Amino acid sequence: AIKPNTKLIHFETPGNPTLCICDIEAIVKLAHENNIQVSVDNTFSSPYNTKPFEFGVDYVVESLTKYINGHGDSMGGAILGPKADMDKVRYESQVNIGGCISPFNAWLIQRGCQTFPLRMQVHNDNALYVAKWLEKQPCVSFVAYPGLPSFKGHELAKKQMKNGFGGVLSFGLKGEHDLYNRVVTHLNVFTSAVSLGNAGSLIVFLGEDDERMYLYPEEFHNGFYRVAIGIEDKDDLVNDLKQAFVAEGLEVVD
Ligand SMILES: Cc1ncc(COP(=O)(O)O)c(C=O)c1O
Repeated sequence: AIKPNTKLIHFETPGNPTLCICDIEAIVKLAHENNIQVSVDNTFSSPYNTKPFEFGVDYVVESLTKYINGHGDSMGGAILGPKADMDKVRYESQVNIGGCISPFNAWLIQRGCQTFPLRMQVHNDNALYVAKWLEKQPCVSFVAYPGLPSFKGHELAKKQMKNGFGGVLSFGLKGEHDLYNRVVTHLNVFTSAVSLGNAGSLIVFLGEDDERMYLYPEEFHNGFYRVAIGIEDKDDLVNDLKQAFVAEGLEVVD
């Protein structure tokens, strides 16, 4: 995909919603050999788990809306890179394009980030716990979570994600479209909503009719949930999923 006029390679790792892991060092090597800069969206991993500059990237993008603010109540973003480039962003792009954060949002994010490492560790721990439980369930068709040894990118994730594997996972059910919707109606702890990095857990169903489905690995094609695990008690999360599965007659094991 590198063309003569390619100036920048930008990617997410883990990727949304497949959690696929990109090899940051390999991409940096290829890009720099071709005089191309590299930018990483580190939102899913967060700076607590991954510091992409250690792998040689030129720029890092973080959604502050997610883990860094942590409470799902304000929007913001950060671009990190060499001062001369950041000055350009600040004094040219921001002036000409906008994108200036409101003082109240800035205050909420600044307050939220004081507890960021503490919360992030719980997101990591809870997500691994839920992923391991889901993987055992006979009604679950697949679980995509970088912390699971069965996950394709696990070894690479271990190298790039130092403190844990983040709070987002995706999984499928052995069932059809309407089953996915019915299971969500039974959930009490999870909220049916998009986004991630909130204190509260969120779940969103992407059906087999989603227009982006062809971009995802085969196991996603019958539909799947993307789950953003929060910082609730981890057994409350598992028990909530358990009772929702049981309410739909699905087999559950401990
Ligand atoms: C990987 C990733 N980066 C950035 C964003 C956008 O973040 P924001 O809502 O702060 O614009 C999202 C939103 O879902 C995301 O998943």
